[in-house]
Amino acid sequence: MTVGRHVQTLRNMRSVQEKGLGARIQGQIVDPEEKRRYVRRLFGGIAGRYDLTNDVMSGGLHRRWKQLALQIADIREGHVLLDLAAGTGDFALRAAREGRVERVIAGDLTLEMLRAGKTREHAEAVDWLACDALSLPFADRTVDRVVVGYGLRNFVDLPQGLSEIRRVLRPGGKLVALDFGRIEPKWLDGLYLRYLEISTSVAGWALHRNVESYRYIPESLRTYPAQRGVTELMQRLGFVHCGHLDLVYGAMAINFGEIPD
Ligand SMILES: C[S@@+](CC[C@H](N)C(=O)[O-])C[C@H]1O[C@@H](n2cnc3c(N)ncnc32)[C@H](O)[C@@H]1O
Repeated sequence: MTVGRHVQTLRNMRSVQEKGLGARIQGQIVDPEEKRRYVRRLFGGIAGRYDLTNDVMSGGLHRRWKQLALQIADIREGHVLLDLAAGTGDFALRAAREGRVERVIAGDLTLEMLRAGKTREHAEAVDWLACDALSLPFADRTVDRVVVGYGLRNFVDLPQGLSEIRRVLRPGGKLVALDFGRIEPKWLDGLYLRYLEISTSVAGWALHRNVESYRYIPESLRTYPAQRGVTELMQRLGFVHCGHLDLVYGAMAINFGEIPD
């Protein structure tokens, strides 16, 4: 691509932003049913290149953060593990490779993401399940660990999703969730959101020829209670030993909590 075309592309992206791309996305995710449809369409459209995009956007760091999240989950021999909002099953495949678990389930709303996951190495060691986190197809107290990567932010009803996770976890079970977070102080958080708006538009264009595909990240983050809010919500729902670990000054965070024995 010539320099002239790059400049034109950047101008186009700016003009879309000026027309309120963020406001347009917000308009589509404010209503729960519309947000569910939006999320499915969005991930259905990018499923084929999702793993590549994750590596590019995080510089490969998401792998380390996921490894850390799995360590916090403290998965043991004989456990049943649910990777919820699993997408292409990063957590599930990692856990299956380590081999101690009795059963690994990768559950997601978007069939295209699950299909992409099923083509990955060791996919046969995982049970791939189309499901909605807000109404899980498991009996009470049947799962030992639930891990969620970049999923909580997408739930149309976060308290309902967390209640469902609490319902299916056994006493002593744990939830560990990795997602984008919010930075403190507030002025720095404002700059961070602005940075995300620009970088996700550029990445969306470069990888999918669509500025909107990743602009959803900062927009969904605006209405997500983030690490501190999720900790409070989990405490309110009866999880114990709740907390969060900030990564990159809070731009990413791992939330965790347990079900009392
Ligand atoms: C950003 S991807 C995360 C994929 C993977 N966990 C990772 O860490 O890379 C978010 C996933 O959440 C799924 N999702 C959103 N809402 C969901 C829900 N209510 N139930 C199940 N999956 C959901 C989407 O379909 C999408 O695959």
